Amino acid sequence: MRTTVAIIGAGPAGLFLSHLLHLHGVDSVVLERRDRDYCERRQRAGVVEHGVAEALRESGLGRRMDREGFRHDGIELRFDGRGHRIDFPDLTGRHVMIWAQTEIVKDLIARRLTDGGQILFEAEATAVEGVESERPRVRFASPGGDEDVLECDYVVACDGFHGIGRTSLPEEVVSTYDKVYPFAWLGILADVPPSCDELIYARHERGFALHSMRSETVSRLYLQVPAETDTAAWSDDRIWSELAARFELADGAWKLGTGPITDKSITPMRSFVTEPMRHGRLFLAGDAAHIVPPTGAKGLNLAMRDVMLLAEGLRRRYAEGDTAGLDAYSDTALRRVWRAEHFSYWMTSLMHTDPAATPFDNRMQQSYLEHIAACRPAAAQLAENYTGLPEV
Ligand code: FAD
Ligand code: DHB
Repeated sequence: MRTTVAIIGAGPAGLFLSHLLHLHGVDSVVLERRDRDYCERRQRAGVVEHGVAEALRESGLGRRMDREGFRHDGIELRFDGRGHRIDFPDLTGRHVMIWAQTEIVKDLIARRLTDGGQILFEAEATAVEGVESERPRVRFASPGGDEDVLECDYVVACDGFHGIGRTSLPEEVVSTYDKVYPFAWLGILADVPPSCDELIYARHERGFALHSMRSETVSRLYLQVPAETDTAAWSDDRIWSELAARFELADGAWKLGTGPITDKSITPMRSFVTEPMRHGRLFLAGDAAHIVPPTGAKGLNLAMRDVMLLAEGLRRRYAEGDTAGLDAYSDTALRRVWRAEHFSYWMTSLMHTDPAATPFDNRMQQSYLEHIAACRPAAAQLAENYTGLPEV
């Protein structure tokens, strides 16, 4: 089998890359180890940055997002029993879209298949070879279990944190940077209308909580829990009463609606970066190259931005015979990656209760939150990063 660009992974990064390449007239094949249903159901992120939403629209994938998603002009920071709104358009001229990763993936798969694109589901990549040559190959196990080979000009590994792409770079060229946090998020989906119009990020001495949403009738909520927590330890009643305690306002003027919980999962919290994001004809994009803790809602957005850059580099390579975009990819992407790493780390440190924190540390968090509430440039800095920095 032969194609121009072999893409490993049908997450948002791999699928969006394949779609953008198609619009540029560049062929690709996507190898995905899971089945289509699994890819379309996996619950993950929900916030799309201003610029990424624009890119989805420009590529013809904005219609359902604009009809069924929500435009959000702010978030609430809740601490010490009070709420403080961060107004995005006022502070930055930008907004975000609340549009689930599952929906982006569904639209991308449907569109690729309508456009005649090749996504091989249940096809697990097992090895990447010859990336220092002009004819790299990806070995994969086809759905029947037979070994097959995909030959190509370039390989892009969009195969997430546990894929084979990153480990295919020679050890001696790679540097990795890692931080593991002593807590995780317990995420739920519930059939209950959201109790708020905008997302609430709550800092509480019992731990962080986040109220998000998926539709007029479905809420998405998260609770900080200790690392290594098992969902079995969290009954529905325990989850709702813990959420209510962490979101409580001092004046009692807000009530959390409850309803049947349809999904429960644990997300570990980690920061991780691999450098470089390219070796020879192998490129890394999205979670394959970097992980952020989810507090700043950056994981999905970073993945989409990586492939926007890569798609433009590949377009230039094939339309103009110019590899400058591809050659600059790793350095350019890493500038944004490190900015998002810092923002995600900072939001996480600001909002969570670290089990090792001293009373001094807690006062530091509280003081900075009060500063954001009182000082426009501090609020603007948060809003700039949250809505996505166009210049990085
Ligand atoms: P992925 O979405 O991980 O896609 C990688 C794909 O590659 C998968 O489909 C996988 O099956 C496939 N694959 C792996 N290995 C192979 C192989 N050998 N051969 C073929 N296919 C392979 N971000 C937020 O901003 N907010 C959140 O709330 C949030 N929650 C998350 C919850 C969880 C449990 C996880 C894991 C991540 C979460 N994230 C969140 C992060 C965000 O969802 C990711 O950053 C985003 O999915 C990255 O997209 P990606 O395409 O790079 O990788
Ligand atoms: C969601 C996830 C996030 O990590 C976040 O910061 C905001 C919203 C969500 O899943 O809706």
